[in-house]
Amino acid sequence: MTGNNPSTIPLPIVILISGYGSNLQAIIDTTRDGELPVEIRGVISNRPDAYGLLRAKKAGIPTKIINHKIYSDRREFDRALQEAIDSYHPSLVILAGFMRILGPDLINHYQDRMMNIHPSLLPAYPGLHTHQRVLDAGEKRHGASVHFVTNELDSGPVIIQGSIAVSPGDNVENLNTRVQKLEHHIYPLAIKWFAERRLEIKENKIMLDNKPLTTPVEYNE
Ligand code: GRF
Repeated sequence: MTGNNPSTIPLPIVILISGYGSNLQAIIDTTRDGELPVEIRGVISNRPDAYGLLRAKKAGIPTKIINHKIYSDRREFDRALQEAIDSYHPSLVILAGFMRILGPDLINHYQDRMMNIHPSLLPAYPGLHTHQRVLDAGEKRHGASVHFVTNELDSGPVIIQGSIAVSPGDNVENLNTRVQKLEHHIYPLAIKWFAERRLEIKENKIMLDNKPLTTPVEYNE
């Protein structure tokens, strides 16, 4: 008998974007290649002009726009966003370059089933302009982190990190290119583990293959 085992059913996910959508594309491509057992039910953008919306449409994925500019305050925006996400009934919500800070009610609603990718080796450099800040500080290593989302910005438990060496000749552009290449590898991988029920979070601690993950999984270029 097949079909009744939950691990053979593709995990329904929704992806939130604000811009270019290269991580969205990596997730679409990995899914299409048969390496990621998910069903991308919808892509939601807060920006009507996000290029990622075209990527979704090209892949035949339903899209919605929840434009933050038309809501009177953050709560109203969060409410509309939650309604849009829930209309797809996802088991996992993926933030992929989604550039709005989400309120506690929405984050609590998706507790333990919302992931984000951040371009730094968290807990170092939460927030914006990470490549420039890494260069300014003369760091030797840099990278990207996939983490579960909690109420503290860029601070939830980290699942996997990809890292690269920073050389004296590096600049923001080439760091961005190299870090994004890592992102396109580690984000689909973390989602795959979750979809395969190998990864879960219990009481703010990550479990991978039924063992507590004491340090993030490392992936080096
Ligand atoms: C990525 O660098 C990600 O780390 C950050 O936003 C960027 C999104 O890029 N959260 P893209 O839209 O997926 O190309």
